[in-house]
Formats: sequence, C-alpha cells, structure tokens
Amino acid sequence: MTEVEITNRETRTFLRSLPWGDLSGELVMDVGCGYGNMSTQCILERFPRASRVIAIDQSSECIQRSKVEFRNGIFKKAQFKKANVTVMRHLRRWEGKISKIVSAHCLSEIEKKERAFKVMYELLKPGGQAALLFTGRSQSDDVYAAMLQNPKWSPYFTVLFGYRDHEAKFTNLQESRQLLAYTGYNIANVRVGDNSEKQAPTHGPYNQ
Ligand SMILES: C[S@@+](CC[C@H](N)C(=O)[O-])C[C@H]1O[C@@H](n2cnc3c(N)ncnc32)[C@H](O)[C@@H]1O
Repeated sequence: MTEVEITNRETRTFLRSLPWGDLSGELVMDVGCGYGNMSTQCILERFPRASRVIAIDQSSECIQRSKVEFRNGIFKKAQFKKANVTVMRHLRRWEGKISKIVSAHCLSEIEKKERAFKVMYELLKPGGQAALLFTGRSQSDDVYAAMLQNPKWSPYFTVLFGYRDHEAKFTNLQESRQLLAYTGYNIANVRVGDNSEKQAPTHGPYNQ
C-alpha cells in the first residue's frame, strides 16, 4: 500500500464515523488538502451531495497540480485554493459561510494551532461543525524532544525530518481540548486512535 492509500483509508474511516448525513447542498472546506486525490477525494466520495468542497493548502505545488489533474468527474465540485489556515485574510471571503470543515493529517504540521483553530472557527457559519483528524503527542515525541535538547542528536533531526523544533508541533490531547474550548468550540466528540500501521515518518528519506 502506498502512503496515500494508507492515509486515505484512515480518512475514509474517519469520515464514515461522522453523523453528518449526506450534507446535501452544504458548503464544505478541506483544510490542508494536499493533492486532490487525498482527503478532498475522500470527502467528495463520502458527501457527493455537498454543494462544493473548497480545498485549501498553503503549498502552491499541491494547489497548482490539483487544479490541473483533478477537475473532472467528482472533482467538478472541488475548488482548490492556495491559503494558509493561520492567515484569515487568505480566507476572508468564506468568513461565516462554511457548514462543515474537515482537516485530515494537517494540524500536527502547524505550530500556530491556536491561530488555525480560531480562523476555522471564524469560517464556520453559526451551528457549523469541524472534524479534525490529527496526530497527537506520543511517548516517542517525548524522547525526540529530549534528544533535540542534546547537541549530539539535534543536527540529525534537520537531516532526517527537516525540522528542529519538535516541541511546538505536537500537542497532547488535553492541550488540544483546551485550545479548542478556549477558541469557543463546543467539543462534541473526541476519539483517540492508534495508527501504529503508519510507522514511517511522513517526512524524510524513508518516503522519497
Ligand atoms: C500530510 S498532508 C495531508 C493531506 C491530506 N489532507 C490527507 O489527509 O492526505 C498535510 C498538508 O497540510 C498542508 N499544510 C500544512 N500547514 C498548513 C497551513 N498552515 N495552511 C494550509 N495548509 C497547510 C501541507 O502543505 C500539506 O499539503
């Protein structure tokens, strides 16, 4: 199985678990969509009656390629847009207009989580809902964080993973709950899963 197949399987299971009906006529946003054949495709398949899926990503490459490669069939309902979810001015036109937000495998990459939660909150219309699937902090993250403090090991993180600041990226469940509640969300449901099937890091030479 390719990495996209594994993550899409996880996304599909997640989407099936949402008590959202068929979202007929509703405006959906996919935050941190990656390429069109990732979470956006899963959303379009799961909710074919949604009016449109606005798929945003901060990566120009993801958006440009998706606009070219994913425009027919179910993708006619997708609108790909380059935007950073921590920057409200990129998304102002949808302020208070989105019925449902889905974000899969993206929030753990964002250091300014509080800002991202706030922007998404402002995009939702009254009564709107967000479904967020992201990696939390595990025991191995504690080990990585300790290694990053050690000059003997810290340089390897830049080479292997492409980052040096581990601490800021992974919030634990309690911190995420607090951030969401502080922003104003009513938390309807929290589930903690185990994605031990996905052993390789999502960045670095293992996936190249
Ligand atoms: C691992 S991919 C996930 C793609 C897809 N959602 C999926 O589930 O397969 C994470 C994506 O989040 C995007 N991303 C990271 N930070 C972002 C931000 N601040 N605003 C928008 N997109 C962001 C990245 O560019 C990347 O394409």
